[in-house]
Amino acid sequence: MAIIKNKSPVLFFYNNSKKWLMNISKKESLHTHIGVLKHADAIGKEYGSRLMTNKDKYVYLLEPTMYDYIMKIQHGTQIVYPKDLGYIAARAGIQDGQKILEIGTGSGSLTSFVASIVKPRGHVYTFDVDENFMKIAEKNIRKSGVSKYVTQHNLDLKTSKEIPVTDMDVALIDLGDPWVVIPKVRQMLKGSGSIFAICPTMNQLEKLTMALVENEFTDIESTEHIIRTIEAREGKTRHSFQGIGHTTYLCFARKAFFGPKTKTTKAKTTKAKTTKAKTTKAKTTKAKTTKAKTTKAKTTKKSTKN
Ligand SMILES: C[S@@+](CC[C@H](N)C(=O)[O-])C[C@H]1O[C@@H](n2cnc3c(N)ncnc32)[C@H](O)[C@@H]1O
Repeated sequence: MAIIKNKSPVLFFYNNSKKWLMNISKKESLHTHIGVLKHADAIGKEYGSRLMTNKDKYVYLLEPTMYDYIMKIQHGTQIVYPKDLGYIAARAGIQDGQKILEIGTGSGSLTSFVASIVKPRGHVYTFDVDENFMKIAEKNIRKSGVSKYVTQHNLDLKTSKEIPVTDMDVALIDLGDPWVVIPKVRQMLKGSGSIFAICPTMNQLEKLTMALVENEFTDIESTEHIIRTIEAREGKTRHSFQGIGHTTYLCFARKAFFGPKTKTTKAKTTKAKTTKAKTTKAKTTKAKTTKAKTTKAKTTKKSTKN
């Protein structure tokens, strides 16, 4: 049985839009528009229990999940949202024990999520150039309880000659110009390792795809993930009024080895080209002959009439 203690993390849940994530501190109270709750009253209760505010409203004491931490994250930058996080994990096959490279830590949303999957044997090596964002990320990663599985580096992999990590299972890139780092990322990935890049615009997808092909990546796929909330209530279930806005596109690919173009391939191509040229020529000649014959026939017919 999971019992709430002093300092335990708790999601005080009233409804989907009114919820508060905090660590229990026995002298504190939670003040909200639905009333006041004393943290001390939560101590000793099982997660899932409920308390009543001084305005007679029930609030549930839930054990926070990674989703809750991410939805309550302090934003220094744009973040990757759960609708995309799930697909990233599934498509790249992220699992316990893997080594993950991340370029563009930002607020640490993707970092925390991925660390929670690769732990306890895996690790996330994350790079950023902005010290302020790195501090915000550090705080967010700590709050979500995965600091032990993350190493933050202040290094610009676009310009640095260093190859600070190698043999990575997955590389996650969230930069404005991800195509710039592709050759370097290739050196850090293991064979058939996966890449995911977060691209807010289609222009980025285009440039990135070209760089991926040039750098011998295969299984390239660009996607957009849209989530639509349903309000399910007896007799009046419908889509929620919440609009669907654009967040980002995702681009996935896997490191491959195209190898040198063999002579056989070249010979085959040349042969194929020659055959095609011959066929085309033959077809053209045939068409010309048929046309000439038709014209001749018509002329003969005309002169017969006259
Ligand atoms: C959109 S944010 C990443 C958000 C992150 N994926 C998240 O879920 O919280 C982009 C980050 O890339 C960082 N950045 C920009 N250029 C960089 C570079 N050359 N190397 C590493 N990070 C860089 C920025 O400082 C910023 O923190």
